[in-house]
Amino acid sequence: MKKSIIILSSTSRRGGNTDLLCDRFMEGAKDAGHNVEKILLRDKNINECLGCGLCYNFHKECPQKDDAALIIDKMVNSDVIVMASPVYFYNICGRLKTMIDRCCAHFLEMTNKEFYLIAAMGEDNRELMERAFDSMRSFIMCCPNSKEKGVVAATGSLNIGDVKSSPAMEAAYQLGYTVGSS
Ligand SMILES: Cc1cc2nc3c(=O)[nH]c(=O)nc-3n(C[C@H](O)[C@H](O)[C@H](O)COP(=O)(O)O)c2cc1C
Repeated sequence: MKKSIIILSSTSRRGGNTDLLCDRFMEGAKDAGHNVEKILLRDKNINECLGCGLCYNFHKECPQKDDAALIIDKMVNSDVIVMASPVYFYNICGRLKTMIDRCCAHFLEMTNKEFYLIAAMGEDNRELMERAFDSMRSFIMCCPNSKEKGVVAATGSLNIGDVKSSPAMEAAYQLGYTVGSS
């Protein structure tokens, strides 16, 4: 069945390793007939959550007027959400965390989502990369009846383009291609 997929690409650098992996995932998913949109968060204006509580105490819309609302709307209306982040100090980067925090008013509407996780890091240490994936999993836990469906992990990818020689590129394509098959 055709799925709608949103990819949140949070690299700080255009053409970054995680973004290249997102593109491969997207190619695979498109080849399989899905509708895919990638959002490069660095090109968007997304403020940090103010913690004002207007959403959870008074069911009001977020007072901030930036690009977050449109992205959140796409997340709510997608079947599949892909979160991609460079590993920064064994965690996700601030840009992705900021986007996640801004979901405060609407994460309970992100029901039955299938999540895919993508990360790249400089060191060749897959085990330590789990810390970044665990940060993403904390968000998945909060989205009702949602589950993780797959990960792409590129270790040993420090400089822009290093990932091109990694098996993670093919893994990203295959994962995108097999969305919805299990
Ligand atoms: C602020 C910062 C922190 C980083 N922290 C780590 C780290 O803890 N472990 C690691 O292996 N690589 C670390 N790196 C390297 C990045 O994970 C690596 O360059 C990755 O390919 C970046 O992905 P991108 O090209 O999509 O931006 C860090 C890079 C930066 C800029």
